[in-house]
Amino acid sequence: MPHFDTLILGAGAAGLFCASRVAARGRRVLVIDHAKKPAEKVRISGGGRCNFTNLDTQPEAFLSDNPHFAKSALARYTPQDFCQLMSEHSLTWHEKTLGQLFCDQKSGAVISLLLRELERYGGHLQLNLGVGEIKHVDDRFLVDTAAGVFTSDSLVVATGGLSIPKMGATGLAYRIAEQFGHSLITTRPALVPLTFSGAQKQHFSDLSGVSIPVSCQAEAGPSFAENLLFTHRGLSGPAVLQASSYWRESQSVELNLLPDHAAQEILNQARQSQARQTVKSVLKDYLPARLTEKLSPLTGLPFDKNLAELSNSLMAELSHCLHHWSCLPAGSEGYRTAEVTLGGVATDALSSRTMESQHQTGLFFIGECVDVTGWLGGYNFQWAWASAAAAGAVA
Ligand code: FDA
Repeated sequence: MPHFDTLILGAGAAGLFCASRVAARGRRVLVIDHAKKPAEKVRISGGGRCNFTNLDTQPEAFLSDNPHFAKSALARYTPQDFCQLMSEHSLTWHEKTLGQLFCDQKSGAVISLLLRELERYGGHLQLNLGVGEIKHVDDRFLVDTAAGVFTSDSLVVATGGLSIPKMGATGLAYRIAEQFGHSLITTRPALVPLTFSGAQKQHFSDLSGVSIPVSCQAEAGPSFAENLLFTHRGLSGPAVLQASSYWRESQSVELNLLPDHAAQEILNQARQSQARQTVKSVLKDYLPARLTEKLSPLTGLPFDKNLAELSNSLMAELSHCLHHWSCLPAGSEGYRTAEVTLGGVATDALSSRTMESQHQTGLFFIGECVDVTGWLGGYNFQWAWASAAAAGAVA
């Protein structure tokens, strides 16, 4: 049975980075992944340019049953630390918006960085190898694979969440966690487009491709001021993806279609100067015409009436709707397109300093499989790096 000091399951962002940190300590390490290629989610991230971190990384940008859990790891491995590593590999980056850093080279360059770091310290990588039963016997982990049983002193689980099963996502981390007595926080697709049904779906579909700045808020979450994109199935774009992480079935989301204007003022002024105009035609200076045409059927309010015909209270209702339009999604696109999985391995029995299990010495959980989920914008990779560094210092 081949023996390693540390076995790491999952060659994604967290697993590969952790492996290089472990190997840098002189430990013999092997990363096992069932996929043919490593870090495929890094490859497709950020539209191929990998939004690898966020300069504004702070615990408030992460969802977890225990909002304090991520603080320690995030404080000890920062966005600047990863930037430093990028520099060492001659990679450059730019800030797009809201602290989001994108790699100037393609995202493949970030994967190469991770692989070169692993190689530099003599770590091993075995792809295309499924993982079967896992046991802990006589202070050793036994990991059964098609290539035989591997043994190790430490085992780091970095197999991610359930999002995008087509790319190899499985619930392996959750199975291992339960096997060793950990509880799970209910998982849900997050950073995911919201879908609609019936007439609303048809209206959204007609608007497919229209993108506008909004602020969007799910009932339980903060308001996100970013872009909204209408799609054939419903609503997407960064503002909606952000809100989706807080959205729950049968709850509505609220959209402010004019986040930078006061609708009441616009309509009052227009009524004084152009009372024969319809509301929707006045709004064409502020919103795409394709959207203003649909406002009446979408909201059930008379945006197609002349301003002169509207009572003050109806004017107020229209203005209110433009700033607080409440939509009731039928669902989300689910794990098929979700960027991340909310929930996962409960943090209550993990060390926030090292990610080690309190039930089983030598067992670690890092990355997306843990119940720590970032906002859109590089936060999830920063969690992958930070949790990997925390475990990599001791595993
Ligand atoms: P990750 O899922 O990356 O890796 C897990 C690995 O485990 C995979 O290689 C998988 O094959 C392997 N595995 C799973 N089950 C296994 C099994 N049973 N046996 C063996 N191996 C197994 N985040 C961000 O910060 N900035 C961004 O720009 C983006 N963009 C983005 C775009 C898209 C389309 C998606 C889907 C996601 C993002 N993300 C993102 C999120 C980010 O990709 C995600 O948070 C990290 O990849 C999580 O890293 P992990 O290493 O934890 O899991």
